[in-house]
Amino acid sequence: MKLFIDTANMQEIRDGARLGVISGVTTNPSLAAMEGIGNRENYRAAVQEISDILDGPISVEVVSLEAEGMVAEGREIAEWIPNPWVKIPSTVAGFEAIATLAKDGIKVNQTLCFSLNQALLGAQAGSFVVSPFVGRLDDIGQQGMDLVEDIVSVFRQQKIETQVLAASVRTSLHCSQAARAGAHIATVPYKVLLQMVQHPLTDSGVSRFLSDWGKAGNS
Ligand code: E4P
Repeated sequence: MKLFIDTANMQEIRDGARLGVISGVTTNPSLAAMEGIGNRENYRAAVQEISDILDGPISVEVVSLEAEGMVAEGREIAEWIPNPWVKIPSTVAGFEAIATLAKDGIKVNQTLCFSLNQALLGAQAGSFVVSPFVGRLDDIGQQGMDLVEDIVSVFRQQKIETQVLAASVRTSLHCSQAARAGAHIATVPYKVLLQMVQHPLTDSGVSRFLSDWGKAGNS
C-alpha cells in the first residue's frame, strides 16, 4: 500500500517527502482554504510548488457543481503539473464529468465516495482511483473501513482495475486496517504519519542501547 500525504501545507509536504515514505499528495478545497489559498490562481501556484517538492501524483479537486464546469476545471488542472489526478465528487454531474475526463485520458480521483454503488458507478465511468472516506463514515456511526474492504473485495472479484485510495484517515490504526483490507493507497495527514512511526519499545530500545554503549566506556 502506497502512502500519500493529505495536506496543502508546504512544510508538512516537505517534511513528509524527506522521510522517503510519501509517493503522492491529496488536497481538497478545505485543506487549501486552511492554508489561506483562496482563489484559483493561488491554488494553481500551490499545486505547482507541491509538484516541485514531490515527484508523484497530486490530487486537485474541482469546485464546480455542474458536469460542464467540472470538465472545464479538470482539463485546466490537467495542464498545471506533470502528474495531476483530478478530484471529482461522486454525484450525478460528477459521473458525467468522470466519463468525459477519462475519455480525454485524464486521471480522475473519484472523491467523497461513501458507498460500494458509488464506487461501482465511478469504475464504469472511468475513475482511475476511488476514494472511500473512512473517518467521515466513522463520524456518523458506521465502520468506514468496511467500505474499503468491500470495494477492494468486489473490485478484485470483478477484475475492476480502478485503484482504491483510503481517504479521510484519522488514526494510525486506520492505516494498518487499510493495508490489511488491500487498499492500494492511503492518504494520511502529517500527524497520522508521525503516529505511524511511534512505538514505545523503539524509544526505550534506543535509550537502552545508548546507555549500554556508554557503560562500556564508549562515547
Ligand atoms: C482526501 O482526498 C480527502 O479529501 C481527505 O482525506 C478528507 O479527509 P477529512 O474527512 O478528514 O476531511
